[in-house]
Amino acid sequence: TFFPVILSGGSGTRLWPISRSYSPKQLETLFGDASLLVHTARRLRAHPGAGPVNILCSSRYGQRIVDQLEADGLNWSTLIEEPMGRDTAAAAGIAASWARATHGDEAVVVLLPADHYVDDLNAFHDALTKAVEAAAHGRIALIGITPDGPNTGYGYIRREQDKLDGLTCYPIRAFVEKPDLTKARAYVESGDYLWNSGIYAMRADVFLEELVRYEPKIAQGVAAAFDGRTVTDRSGRQILRFSADQFSAIPKTSIDYAVAERTHKGAVARGHFPWSDIGNWQSLRELTADPETGNSLKGQVVLHNSRECLVYGHNKPIAVVGLEKVTVVDTEDALLVCADDSVQSVKDVHTILAEEA
Ligand code: GDD
Ligand code: MG
Repeated sequence: TFFPVILSGGSGTRLWPISRSYSPKQLETLFGDASLLVHTARRLRAHPGAGPVNILCSSRYGQRIVDQLEADGLNWSTLIEEPMGRDTAAAAGIAASWARATHGDEAVVVLLPADHYVDDLNAFHDALTKAVEAAAHGRIALIGITPDGPNTGYGYIRREQDKLDGLTCYPIRAFVEKPDLTKARAYVESGDYLWNSGIYAMRADVFLEELVRYEPKIAQGVAAAFDGRTVTDRSGRQILRFSADQFSAIPKTSIDYAVAERTHKGAVARGHFPWSDIGNWQSLRELTADPETGNSLKGQVVLHNSRECLVYGHNKPIAVVGLEKVTVVDTEDALLVCADDSVQSVKDVHTILAEEA
């Protein structure tokens, strides 16, 4: 069995106004009948090797996450609350430290982003099983996805041609986090690269050794914060908290830059399932659109002579007439109107509003 940890500390500012600092996108229902986080936990529950999920998130919404899981009948084991986000290298270090403390050095930790779209559960489980197996053999294993365009928001994995001896994963020859567009194009054209799905499987001891090797300051900061943890028991489940002083001293960088780009222990399992990280409104529209019109609609919406629009209403009718490639999202306290070629800039709204406040 492995030790699943759902990483849920991101803020998802490009999905404003549904995604807010008080309620980031992973807690929102963007499709189907549940939040992205609940979908993530459901996918794990159905895997035979998965222990109960552990959650790593900001202390601002730990309780809401637990409420969502419990309302869906999902079992959880530990809620790890960060006083502030120190990015995923620190988060992974804390997760591995807790796995080691509770399940021993060789516990296989699986880190899963909370905010992904995944279709085809069997193919997802198949890739996860392969990655966990490579992790048990001392590898830092990723699930890699066949790219369909030069997206610069992802990590790119170059794999070796031949699988690792006796395993179903490939050694990683090179990992490049968020390359510029020229490089991303070249990588996709070469056919030699996969996208990093952001799902990591690794033994606790192996990851912590690599963290010491490549980011000793982060490793030290994590160790200090972890030693100063407080553990609250709540009917057999644990809640972990840290001192804000100690936690804020941990240098901030992602696991991708800190370890994946540098380790010689990387391995990749190919994931043959439809996948997206729902980075902006356009990617959500593409996942949910009506194939005929390209429109994705929610709520009471009147669409007239309009194509390729995403329109999410809230509590009043919304009419969109004669527009193409436009996003309109209404919520209780905010309204977004955005052109398709500007969906990446929605994250700036957050900053501008914060400055004005
Ligand atoms: N607990 C915690 N604390 N979680 C965090 C923190 C933090 O400080 N920062 C981010 N996360 C969570 C996010 O909520 C998300 O679920 C996951 O960690 C990944 O963080 P992102 O900030 O969304 O990373 P990214 O999308 O820019 O890049 C990563 O994911 C891509 C695939 O979606 C990288 O791993 C890329 O290489 C990868 O291609
Ligand atoms: Mg992401």
